[in-house]
Amino acid sequence: FHVDMNADEADKGTYPFYMLKEVDEQPNVMRKLAQTYLSEHGEPEIDDKLLKAMQAADRLYIVGAGTSYHAGLIGKRLFENLAHIPTEVHVSSEFAYEQPMLSEKPFFIFLTQSGETADSREVLVNVNDAGYPSLTITNVQNSTLSREATYTLLLHAGPEIAVASTKAYTAQIALEAILAKALGEVTGQIIAQNFNIRQQLGLVATGMQAIVDEKDKLEAISNNYLLKTNRAFYIGRGIDHAVSLEAALKLKEISYIQCEGFASGELKHGTIALIEEGTPVIGFITQEKTAGLTRSNLQETMARGAKTLTIVREGLAVDGDDLILPDVDEMLMPLLSVVPAQLLAYYTSLNKGLDVDKPRNLAKSVTVE
Ligand code: G6P
Repeated sequence: FHVDMNADEADKGTYPFYMLKEVDEQPNVMRKLAQTYLSEHGEPEIDDKLLKAMQAADRLYIVGAGTSYHAGLIGKRLFENLAHIPTEVHVSSEFAYEQPMLSEKPFFIFLTQSGETADSREVLVNVNDAGYPSLTITNVQNSTLSREATYTLLLHAGPEIAVASTKAYTAQIALEAILAKALGEVTGQIIAQNFNIRQQLGLVATGMQAIVDEKDKLEAISNNYLLKTNRAFYIGRGIDHAVSLEAALKLKEISYIQCEGFASGELKHGTIALIEEGTPVIGFITQEKTAGLTRSNLQETMARGAKTLTIVREGLAVDGDDLILPDVDEMLMPLLSVVPAQLLAYYTSLNKGLDVDKPRNLAKSVTVE
């Protein structure tokens, strides 16, 4: 077992729980990724052979479990927008036994913090049997999925100890963005050429710092909205929906509140029946083209008694919004919007007196199928 950091960094120091330390480390993880994978001129430095293999593919298949699967959902948007390559995202335990029809030249990307998840490995074994090229994006050098894939990129996030994954999620997204930019450049996409990844990751790091500096406010919101409830919703559209899945998972894992991440436009087709007086509904509003729609979906829940909260990108904020996130490129907004959700989950678990780092029934790395 080898991690890409020294032992000191696995010490929680003055933090009561590893999770809080790991949330706080995210600005530095962003900087570390920029240092590791960008040249001094801010250009991606990614192995040529890997880029050639990806360029030869007609479709990307991202495979992962849990939080890593959720990072893949953001990756799909990045690869499709910046590199114009069709991308599918799959839960590994589903893919392993019900393989979708593959394109002629598939390329597989395995997202796995630990590099040891059995469900994901099962897919890789099949991919290798079929002779398809693959990349593992992982935090652990020499892990099983790293050794067995054709290529590896390391997250350099330092050891992640808390069961609820935080910095690995944001590191996976940032690295997917760097890779998508690199791939888009070699395939001549103007949007990739114009995407200033170094500047963006700098803004993300600063923005994350501003959010983690608002812990008191987030703890107060947790007390007011989440501590006494047993049901909650995160909603959004598109990329905001993808983040709402991860936000809900964080809350479920460590606070044991039943929480759904939901596509905000789909609520009215059934699930809105669950809204009653006081049900918390938290909306992500970071994408210009869907901001108005998500706002009206929030209104619909409010009319049924929901206690709503908005997490909004500064450029889209209006009077009365609750949490305002600094502006970065819309494609990278998940790197910021997830952070308040991580902290809301943290404080809810903490103030319920639960073991934040070691929630019941869960393991950090699941090595059975
Ligand atoms: C476990 C952990 C989750 C993690 C998932 C995938 O269920 O509790 O936090 O997201 O495994 O792990 P991986 O190491 O493959 O990213």
